[in-house]
Amino acid sequence: MTKDEVMEQLKGVKYPGFSRDIVSFGIVKSVDVQGDAVKVSLQMTSASEASQQEIRGRVVSVLEEDFSTVDIQVDQQAAAQAPVQQAELIPGVKHTIAVASGKGGVGKSTVAVNLAAELMNRGHTVGLLDLDIYGPSLPILLGINERPSMTPEKKLIPLEKFGMKVMSFGFLSGNDTPVIWRGPMVARMTEQFFGDVLWENLDYLILDLPPGTGDIQLTLVQKLKIAGAVIVTTPQDLAVSDVRKGADMFGKVHTPVLGVIENMAGFVVSGFDEGTPIVVKDRQSPVSHAFSFIVDKIEEAVA
Ligand SMILES: Nc1ncnc2c1ncn2[C@@H]1O[C@H](COP(=O)(O)OP(=O)(O)OP(=O)(O)O)[C@@H](O)[C@H]1O
Ligand SMILES: [Mg+2]
Repeated sequence: MTKDEVMEQLKGVKYPGFSRDIVSFGIVKSVDVQGDAVKVSLQMTSASEASQQEIRGRVVSVLEEDFSTVDIQVDQQAAAQAPVQQAELIPGVKHTIAVASGKGGVGKSTVAVNLAAELMNRGHTVGLLDLDIYGPSLPILLGINERPSMTPEKKLIPLEKFGMKVMSFGFLSGNDTPVIWRGPMVARMTEQFFGDVLWENLDYLILDLPPGTGDIQLTLVQKLKIAGAVIVTTPQDLAVSDVRKGADMFGKVHTPVLGVIENMAGFVVSGFDEGTPIVVKDRQSPVSHAFSFIVDKIEEAVA
């Protein structure tokens, strides 16, 4: 077997708990074939001990038929420098899920709101954080025009709507204040913002990221320990580089992409901006069923 053939074999090895394989997750750093011996170098410090064992076992079992020696090396050095090591869990939050898109206007916020609301429908405690400093959407999507209050320690107390805790730049700046900050300042503001919110116990925190896959987004996903990301796109953009750029960005910080949501395909629903998420308003609608299916996948993935 050649090195490329070994790589092909490894593409059949699923990352435990995910439908994706370990090659596309970026765990396989190198493969070295010497006659009937193979050496596979893996970088997987972000995986739990149990997952690491599982991955080793799976790699050995696909290669042991063709090689008499299968040597698996775990690359600790490189992994120790990987950004994921600096990631911090937001206090009190069990699973953080990021909703991202390559472009604006594809329905990212609509998806984020409905995923959060569907998780809440299922009895989870849910927070929703709108990190889009230029175009915050939550005030409109959820019909909110209150301002959050602060604790004496200057922590922002999220607002509550439909049983979810929600926070948005829009609650602070007002819906139509033009925001003129640029690059690094936005990154700093955003970072500080998510550190300053008092979430308390949440099963899920859904992040509505700013559109795009630039530095701001990369900084955010680097800093937060995100369980997984969902990429939203439309049929027009699905085939092109937008989605790939998003996937590459999450790949850099070892965050699994749980799936791609193709929005605005088939029929178009009118009246999405009414202030009530569709999964709250009509749980039996076809759109709600679609969100329910997506949330099944998210629950499976984090489990
Ligand atoms: N499936 C859909 N059918 C019809 N309209 C939709 C659908 N999804 C979203 N929309 C509408 O498209 C517009 C953009 O949606 P949304 O604000 O969720 O996108 P976004 O990707 O978050 O945009 P932005 O980049 O500005 O943050 C909104 O008016 C929303 O109501
Ligand atoms: Mg939005």
